[in-house]
Amino acid sequence: MVNKNPIYILKEVFDVEKAFVLGYNKEALLEYYKEKALKCRRCPLYKTRNRLVFGWGNPYSGVMAIGEAPGVDENRIGKPFVGKAGTFLAEAMEKAGIDRERDLYITNVLKCIPLAFPGSRKIRPPKKEEIRACSYFLEKQIQIIKPRLILAMGGFALSYLLQREVKITANIGQIFEIKDGIKVFPVFHPSKIIREDKEEVRKHYVEDLKKFKSLMEELKES
Ligand code: URA
Repeated sequence: MVNKNPIYILKEVFDVEKAFVLGYNKEALLEYYKEKALKCRRCPLYKTRNRLVFGWGNPYSGVMAIGEAPGVDENRIGKPFVGKAGTFLAEAMEKAGIDRERDLYITNVLKCIPLAFPGSRKIRPPKKEEIRACSYFLEKQIQIIKPRLILAMGGFALSYLLQREVKITANIGQIFEIKDGIKVFPVFHPSKIIREDKEEVRKHYVEDLKKFKSLMEELKES
């Protein structure tokens, strides 16, 4: 269990760099912002979620994977990518030689499920104002984890990272560089691959993840 007290003392003057200098570790810093997110009222989605889905994985890997928003299973369990899309993603990553718990930290653009209406099981796309509101937490995660490489899963993640609206289809296979020299590698959102339900498309997805794995290796060596 993380002792949060010293961090709360820093609350008013908090900045991530200072906390690093003072020796706070990444888990403690992420825990601090998760606690903050639990109390977040920046948009109305806190009212309809069951569980906050903050992030999961290895914050020391230097690699992040970012999806869109929690789905029904994630909202029930409180971890990202644990439903159908998550199972497919984990299998595809394994085939590409990536261990999703050890090799990266996974999160979403939104930390709460965007339901069509309260009590609904139908999920709608994130709204611009929700993305803006929740970006506070994604930015903190990026500052803490300091990734050198990010897997952008789907158009919402890619558009957020590039800070302009882009279509995922037109950008697959390219490598982007954003602030602080972070490299961004876009892939389709795993849900899209499941919906298409074609063996060929699934195989192609694994190939894309293998390219991502090569980038991970290159960065490790540099
Ligand atoms: N889809 C996402 O974008 N994120 C999840 O965590 C699950 C499904």
